[in-house]
Amino acid sequence: MFNQSFEKFRPQLHFSAHHWINDPNGLIYVNGVYHVFYQCDPDGLVHGTMHWGHASTTDFVRWKHHDIALFPDQNGACWSGSAVRTKDGDVKLLYTSHLVDENGRDFQQQWLVHADEFMAKFEKERTNPVIMNNGLACFRDPKVFWHEGTGRWIMALSHGENMGHSVGFHSSTDLVNWRFESVFGEDHGRHGDGSWECPDLLQLRAPDGTQHWVLVVGIGNQAYGAGSGTMYFIGQFDGREFTNANPPEAELWLDYGRDYYAVQSFFGIHQEEPLVLAWANNWKYAQHPVTTSFNGLLSLPRHLKLIETSQGLRLGAHVPEQMKSAFPQISLSDLPTHPSTGVFRLYGSVSLSVGETKALTLFGDLVPQFEFACNTDGSVTLRQRRAPMEGRTEFEHDYCIALGEMSAFDLEVFVDNGVVELNVHDLIWSTNVYYPDQLAGRIQFGAASNDTELEAYPCLQAP
Ligand code: FRU
Repeated sequence: MFNQSFEKFRPQLHFSAHHWINDPNGLIYVNGVYHVFYQCDPDGLVHGTMHWGHASTTDFVRWKHHDIALFPDQNGACWSGSAVRTKDGDVKLLYTSHLVDENGRDFQQQWLVHADEFMAKFEKERTNPVIMNNGLACFRDPKVFWHEGTGRWIMALSHGENMGHSVGFHSSTDLVNWRFESVFGEDHGRHGDGSWECPDLLQLRAPDGTQHWVLVVGIGNQAYGAGSGTMYFIGQFDGREFTNANPPEAELWLDYGRDYYAVQSFFGIHQEEPLVLAWANNWKYAQHPVTTSFNGLLSLPRHLKLIETSQGLRLGAHVPEQMKSAFPQISLSDLPTHPSTGVFRLYGSVSLSVGETKALTLFGDLVPQFEFACNTDGSVTLRQRRAPMEGRTEFEHDYCIALGEMSAFDLEVFVDNGVVELNVHDLIWSTNVYYPDQLAGRIQFGAASNDTELEAYPCLQAP
């Protein structure tokens, strides 16, 4: 347990702890309480020997911090994984043990842990590891769910001989004995020079009532911007194999900002609209802390939903109402000169005529962070900018995304002491962390005055 100390950039309504944290792990809803485990190094401000930290909440606003749940042992550190609840009501955690072998290679295996009924004691299974490693350098991040169709547990796992550019599926009837089923991904989506990490597989219903499977996966490096990003595929899963319904080269992104990674859905709730959390950071620069009492935070909870667009089905998201209403509200049509704190939710409807631009500038900055422009063909682009920061490699950005044709759209922006989660129509999201001088600096929304040309490179297509 700890006392959440005040530090300038510590968010108020986003989860943070008192040390380094990365991925959300073992997300599970039990007896009316959301349990959130997370990758942490309780002794450091950078990624070290990983433990599973533990917190719980009923509303994502007030948090209880619990004792560390999983500690490293002679078999390795505790890397990412998930939690499930069996039909008998028992909660189990599954994680990856991580060691570096004598040749300096990563050695990763899958472990099972039994939780007690109070989610306070955690006992590692006797016959661990439940899945041994047969030579894959990348073999981690088990996300397990119950597959009704085949009556088995399915585990999605980051798989690969070298860096790991695919997702493996394994099945089990008892969570102890596992069988390899198939692998997906080698020729699909984006393959940078980092691993695919933290896969999650979910079933969602489209607005026309049809069922689809969505595979969400973290692209470790060389996403659309420098560093990590979160991609998804829509298709079918028959309990053995995932089939992509879109062309293999299609790239669909869950968020177009620089700080939204290692997304995981909660087990046990909202099958129609799963609830997810992400690590709001980027491996490119996360290990260069700007803060001194914590490093890393989780995104706001978001419900995922399938939306029919002119391009086909896409994954949208919305923040639960109770979370929205925890923020002081500011309407775009009635902007105060200065907000009274660095924590607020901006909302409004925006209309743009051909040739018009509207820029959103937060924190009293000179250069807008977001700039919407309506092109001659009626399509809208969103330019996103962030200034460089000393000591943080490739933190700066200036890139644009093409939002398609829209003359009017709903804009919602959550701002929490430097963390900004923006969305257009609940469909296009962008999450970014800033470290401004004035957290409660002036907000401006109007015609862009700064006319620096965007360097000529193609816009990222969204959604
Ligand atoms: C993703 C990740 C996972 C791994 C964990 C280690 O951010 O690299 O693949 O299990 O972090 O902390």
